Amino acid sequence: MNKLEKTVVLLPGDGIGPEVTHAAAQVLVDCAHEFGHNFHLIEQPIGGAAIDSAGTPLPKSTLDACLSADAVLLGAVGGTKWDQLPVGRRPESGLLKLRERLGVYVNLRPVKLRPALGNISPLRPERSSHVDMEIVRELAGGIYFGKRGLYGEQAGETAFDTEAYSAGEIERVAKVAFERAMGRRKHVASIDKANVLESSQLWRRTVNRTAAAYPGVELRHLYVDNAAMQLVLDPGQFDVILTSNMFGDILSDEAAALAGSIGLIPSASLGPGPGLYEPIHGSAPQLAGKDSANPIGTILSAAMLLRESFGLSREAAWVEEAVDRVLAAGRRTPDIAMPGETSIGLEAMSAAIRHELAHPSQHAEGYGWGV
Ligand code: IPM
Ligand code: MG
Repeated sequence: MNKLEKTVVLLPGDGIGPEVTHAAAQVLVDCAHEFGHNFHLIEQPIGGAAIDSAGTPLPKSTLDACLSADAVLLGAVGGTKWDQLPVGRRPESGLLKLRERLGVYVNLRPVKLRPALGNISPLRPERSSHVDMEIVRELAGGIYFGKRGLYGEQAGETAFDTEAYSAGEIERVAKVAFERAMGRRKHVASIDKANVLESSQLWRRTVNRTAAAYPGVELRHLYVDNAAMQLVLDPGQFDVILTSNMFGDILSDEAAALAGSIGLIPSASLGPGPGLYEPIHGSAPQLAGKDSANPIGTILSAAMLLRESFGLSREAAWVEEAVDRVLAAGRRTPDIAMPGETSIGLEAMSAAIRHELAHPSQHAEGYGWGV
């Protein structure tokens, strides 16, 4: 068996970030132990925690550690404490700069209703039973990184942000969407606002051109307003969703709700260098320190890290299946407990998953993730 030697930088961040990152880091330690790998875990500050300790949301030492790591696992950034700061100095700007510097241009967000959770979706069961999609979000461009500013006779009277995309930026993320679709149900829905935006018209033309190399994949285009509606009317129609940075941010929160809780959804951000893995939820300051966040989104992000950055599919499935067995056994953090159901804290959920990793229970079949 291939024993790997790898460095993973942990970026706990703010709010519930440290709790969920710690839970996922323990799973990485368990994985190394079980399969004989050597994972060096290095913790670094980012976001508000880094503003407080080093005066900047992405200290150079954090960035350097990430650039020379094999992969990066992040919790969440942001919080009310830093709400008064201008956009360029907020905790979130540290994460955006990190994405930029790592060159991660595509963000994969698999959203699947886990069978073990039963009837948890806010949709009626007959509408929600087929929630199984992967959102392929462009991550390095668009309005997040466009020209912005303030002007006006009195400074601050008028503000602007701009959405710009080049054909090259669109093509590289579109290719990833088609490749992912090849490994799934071979369907891509590209989402834009081509009836209004010039950048969306270029998006549509470029996606059509890229599609020519993937004749086995069916492509269709939807306007974002219609897509937001279709997601709740009939989520089963979506396999791979390809979209821009901003639309992907919004639609992935909506899709996550269909799967029961945003606390369950992992993500992988990929580019030429080290991959960046993070749950799609935020820092949830109201839950911080209360032992009630859901660590599953971050633990599944660690599983994505094992598969996408280290090529460890077996290890990734080992983690994902343990999560599903714990859910099948009825363990629920508050976000996924139905009214009247007993819930457990983050610590207990994390311990249950680690126990399941070490001592797989009998009914191990049938809840595979991503297979
Ligand atoms: C996400 C988050 C981030 C984003 C924030 C924290 C900058 O909402 O990863 O979805 O908007 O990309
Ligand atoms: Mg978001």
